[in-house]
Amino acid sequence: PLARSLSITSLNGLPQWEDDDLPVEDLLLFEISWEVTHKVGGIYTVIQSKAKTTADEWGENYFLIGPYFEQNVKTQVELCEPPNAAVKKAMDNMKSQGCQVFFGRWLIEGSPYVLLFDIGSAAWNLDRWKGEFWDASNIGIPYHDQEANDAVIFGSLTAWFLKELSCQFEDKPNIIAHFHEWQAGVGLILARSQKLPVATIFTTHATLLGRYLCAASIDFYNNLDHFDIDKEAGERQIYHRYCMERASVHCAHVFTTVSQITATEAEHMLKRTPDVVTPNGLNVKKFSAMHEFQNLHSMYKARIQEFIRGHFYGHLDFDLEKTLFFFIAGRYEFSNKGADMFLEALSRLNFLLRVHKTDVTVVVFFIMPAKTNNFNVETLKGQAVRKQLWDTAQFVKEKFGKKLYNALLKGEIPDLNKILDRDDISIMKRAIYSTERHCLPPVTTHNMIDDGNDPILNTIRRIGLFNNRTDRVKVILHPEFLSSTSPLLPLDYEEFVRGCNLGVFPSYYEPWGYTPAECTVMGIPSVTTNLSGFGCFMQEHVSDPAAYGIYIVDRRFRSPDESCNQLTQFLYGFCQQSLRQRIIQRNRTERLSDLLDWRYLGRYYMHARHLALSRTFPDKFEMDLSAPPKTEGFRYPRPSSVPPSPSASQHSSPQHSEAEDEDEDERYDEDEEAERDRQNIKSPFSLGALPQGKK
Ligand code: UDP
Ligand code: GLC
Repeated sequence: PLARSLSITSLNGLPQWEDDDLPVEDLLLFEISWEVTHKVGGIYTVIQSKAKTTADEWGENYFLIGPYFEQNVKTQVELCEPPNAAVKKAMDNMKSQGCQVFFGRWLIEGSPYVLLFDIGSAAWNLDRWKGEFWDASNIGIPYHDQEANDAVIFGSLTAWFLKELSCQFEDKPNIIAHFHEWQAGVGLILARSQKLPVATIFTTHATLLGRYLCAASIDFYNNLDHFDIDKEAGERQIYHRYCMERASVHCAHVFTTVSQITATEAEHMLKRTPDVVTPNGLNVKKFSAMHEFQNLHSMYKARIQEFIRGHFYGHLDFDLEKTLFFFIAGRYEFSNKGADMFLEALSRLNFLLRVHKTDVTVVVFFIMPAKTNNFNVETLKGQAVRKQLWDTAQFVKEKFGKKLYNALLKGEIPDLNKILDRDDISIMKRAIYSTERHCLPPVTTHNMIDDGNDPILNTIRRIGLFNNRTDRVKVILHPEFLSSTSPLLPLDYEEFVRGCNLGVFPSYYEPWGYTPAECTVMGIPSVTTNLSGFGCFMQEHVSDPAAYGIYIVDRRFRSPDESCNQLTQFLYGFCQQSLRQRIIQRNRTERLSDLLDWRYLGRYYMHARHLALSRTFPDKFEMDLSAPPKTEGFRYPRPSSVPPSPSASQHSSPQHSEAEDEDEDERYDEDEEAERDRQNIKSPFSLGALPQGKK
């Protein structure tokens, strides 16, 4: 029987919930995903950011299973021998049959163990394994779908490993295998069909059909219960994948998904209601100096400004101190990620800023990977020109400095008209001539392979946002994820986000949406929608989210045009804020981090594991199901300095009195408000709402 004890400690004013209910020493936990050490999108972030809390709870009994890619292992994994004898034996058995399995520590926070299967080296089994999968499920995989074939190999290897492992045990330890997304699901289906003594959990981070139907611009949410799903899957040629997904869902002892909106979707697209919603968290790090995140913003903003100086050389007739940086980032799903609506809103914003003769300029980055042939010449030239101007300035400054120094040594004030000679002037003139440009600053930083069909570029062409001098909104498409080793913009994604003013993610299809959540914990305001899991979660738990820098566009109950207008208003309102208002807003945004911390949200995973054990091994693991973990009912109050009237906080930029405006002190802190609010906050996870296990 399980012993559950609860202890409450304080985490930044919010009570913390600790659960030591599972006898982890008698259990082994495996988490299986195609994105273990292999970054594709947000699932990688789930696994990577959660590793610390899970490893803290499970210690040496926690393992991640993923695909082996040489480059990933070289850069992220320290190979070692498995310390667990049973795991080692299972691996050795597989290796002795020609299979390449790697074991090591993933070099991320928590340093979890990883077990990686080389898919290529096992590919010769594909036909046999496809046959076995067919026997188990009657799902046939077409030869040309490589992703699905890889999923069969990965799944067969996973099930094989679990079989080798579990047959070594009699009573203990019990095994939990937690599978993420359909690419990992074959392992689950096979484990179940072979009746392995393993408690299984399946988490879906989207539904295939949902993603496809939304991308096809179908009115998805108003027709959820009207789709003929088998037919839709067939027509889109994803019938086999959809079957793999649906079978995984139905085979799992426990089925979970990442948000309520995806739970409803799954009910219709996969015909099973999730047992638990496991909202995605982050590994939130607090700085010891409370306003360090504000300093980081200034520091990285300066780095982005440097890039802009180069990119817009010859056209720098806007004030960089009055320039705001907006961005959208993620996998390139043009309409699902809301890039279409964002561009339309930018065109309207450009118009508004121009007619109101605002002195603010907005530079917008699109960070969405597409196929390219590397950076384009004009973009690289921009940075070279900037560097040359910098070098020229340094050279002349040196000469100037020496002459000045010598004059002062002689007790003279030099004649400032003569301190620069003709050569110096020539050098400077030549440098200025080199900044002459006969084209507009480029809209994209790379040579696009499919330039003519690229949806972002085509929309830019249609709405005419070409970085003209008169445009108040400038756009830069960077069709590659960011990296600190880039010769163009040497910042990693986190640094870049910190340097920006606003993340804009007006998604139409977004089961969770890590990008705005990441902005929040870094204290950067963002735009999201009520069709994203994150947006709905914040709407539920924060009164007046906009005051906290979370702007939620209504894409559910308004027409696209109305939603776009609302987005435009958010953007325009943001542009009208003063520096001080933006600082206050960033403080508020950052205050919401606790809500997104795995130390809180990890409890849903704990609950799912507990539930899976109680369903698989009911004699050993009982569970009181009457009180699943809930956050319902909890809300962050409206910040105390925002007036209570809704009209006063329309799109709630931080409101404050004139007296506050006159305060010249640009201190970052708003400690009093923060403290007041903290005292008003009640725990999102009050004791009554906690899952109660068997004592
Ligand atoms: N991301 C990144 N580098 C970039 C842009 C984005 O690593 O240059 C990451 C971002 O941090 C986030 C993930 O990509 O964790 C996207 O996840 P999200 O849940 O927003 O969307 P998904 O791609 O899973 O649909
Ligand atoms: C999926 C979804 C995204 C979510 C991520 C992690 O890829 O598209 O919205 O944040 O998984 O759960």
